[in-house]
Amino acid sequence: MRLIRFLGGALCLVVILGIGFVAFAWRSAIDPVEPPATASFDPALVERGASLAAIGNCSVCHTKEGGEIMAGGLPLPTPFGTIYATNITPDPETGIGRWSEEAFGRAMREGVDQEGRHLYPAFPYDHFTKVTDDDNRALYAYLMTRKAVRAETPANELPFPINVRMVLAGWKMLFFTPGVYEPDAAQTAEWNRGAYLAEGLGHCGGCHTPRNLLGAEKKSEHYAGGEAEGWTAYALNAASPAPVPWTAESLNQYLTTGYEAQHGVARGPMAPVTANMRLAAPDDAKAIATYIASVMGQPSTEKKSLGEKSVQQSSELEKGVQVQSAGAQTLPAAVDMKDPGAAIYAAACSTCHEAGRPVPYGGLPLRLSTAIHGPTPTNPINVILYGLPAPEGERGPIMPGFAGALTDQQIAQLLAYMRKTFSDKPEWKDIEPLVADIRAGHKDTDLRSLSSDGGNAPANPTKRETSW
Ligand code: HEC
Ligand code: HEC
Ligand code: HEC
Repeated sequence: MRLIRFLGGALCLVVILGIGFVAFAWRSAIDPVEPPATASFDPALVERGASLAAIGNCSVCHTKEGGEIMAGGLPLPTPFGTIYATNITPDPETGIGRWSEEAFGRAMREGVDQEGRHLYPAFPYDHFTKVTDDDNRALYAYLMTRKAVRAETPANELPFPINVRMVLAGWKMLFFTPGVYEPDAAQTAEWNRGAYLAEGLGHCGGCHTPRNLLGAEKKSEHYAGGEAEGWTAYALNAASPAPVPWTAESLNQYLTTGYEAQHGVARGPMAPVTANMRLAAPDDAKAIATYIASVMGQPSTEKKSLGEKSVQQSSELEKGVQVQSAGAQTLPAAVDMKDPGAAIYAAACSTCHEAGRPVPYGGLPLRLSTAIHGPTPTNPINVILYGLPAPEGERGPIMPGFAGALTDQQIAQLLAYMRKTFSDKPEWKDIEPLVADIRAGHKDTDLRSLSSDGGNAPANPTKRETSW
């Protein structure tokens, strides 16, 4: 009797919770509107929207390779299956032409579409929720004045139960905190602007914060370093592995040009972030740099002096090589030719990385490279295999790829040598299988098609785990 009563009670509870959940998860549709005329938007508002869209990287996800801008269709492979970015041009049938500003604002704030369906967090609304109504108005004005493109978004390829959008209400309940950014009164206006943009539209944490098994960012490890598209997105907090500590000035330079003389070039999925930042309002980029510098904090005296020492050693080395090789190309002195990694480095790398050659061909002295000091060898493997293709129509750093010239074993030996020689960090384990893995991931990629994006060694499209 008691058991039956208990089971009955439990069943009631489940039903009540179920109804409660559906009520919680339910969102109503917002009425469609006639697509607003371009002329109805203030050009100044549209311009502000363009700058904000650049910071939000909307075009990076919403444009497929060879496709029209914002017309969607880019596949985003996630650990759960493939999600397609949608068409956000003002096309009334296949895009968001019939979305009111209210519906657009709700998508940004709550991750719910016009018809009331929950959206997958591959659309980074966990960050975009922080955007103000005012900025959403500008973004809406910008999107609604783009060219309308008819392009059906392919259906997502997700297994049950993840293909049921209602399930996302559960994900949101666990991991999603909606709400506009709240300024910190103890900080300056510039810091707050930077925090608002980095935490919100810029969704920097989307790549630079590690994620849990359900694809949510770990709040307790904010900016502790994450992964994106087959690349390591280095820590941007006090754990930053950059050998020369970043400052607000060097960050601003890197973010707006994709290059900084003591840190090198932005590659992989960071390349489009910096390419877009160039299009944003300069004060906004500067504010982001100020905020990120403060997240990193003041470096310890020890870290600072190590950085200064590396810079000094590098410039002495460059001077030495220049004197030595005036007229002829000589190998740097005192290379231990018994170490195969050292021999490869001296023959294939040092002339560009130690000779003080200017960009585009001169590379950073690798003692200054975050890539050699990071927790994984993933990024330097990407760079060594595929190089840095010449950006189209502009001057930028160029490095040849060595995929054809070096075996997996040779690349592993080279990396082990560089890690030991140029950093004070513990050795990397199991480099060789990782090189093989990365090669395998790119075997179907047409590398030539990836060369146009501002000094970008290719992002691995099979691993575009931007989020979720
Ligand atoms: C990291 C990739 C990514 C970025 C960056 C991104 N989006 Fe998206 N967005 C998506 C994906 C994927 C979807 C589809 C989600 C789904 O189907 O549930 C989406 C959906 C949307 C939708 C809903 C459209 C619909 O038809 O349901 C809107 C509106 C939208 N994005 C606007 C934007 C804007 C504005 C920006 C820039 C501020 C932006 N997105 C940046 C990936 C992205
Ligand atoms: C789509 C993923 C992605 C997003 C979004 C992203 N980053 Fe990155 N970021 C990366 C990756 C990957 C790297 C490593 C690139 C490399 O090795 O050249 C990187 C590198 C960096 C570096 C250089 C770190 C170092 O020590 O060398 C800085 C600084 C940085 N990102 C800042 C930002 C800021 C600020 C934002 C937001 C405005 C941002 N990132 C957004 C993926 C991303
Ligand atoms: C033709 C000149 C050239 C050659 C040869 C060359 N590099 Fe580079 N390398 C560059 C340039 C230019 C860059 C981009 C500027 C920068 O970031 O240092 C670069 C970047 C890098 C980076 C990223 C540094 C950072 O953190 O920004 C690594 C790692 C690297 N090269 C390793 C190598 C290795 C290892 C070899 C030899 C197998 C090699 N390079 C050969 C020119 C060259």
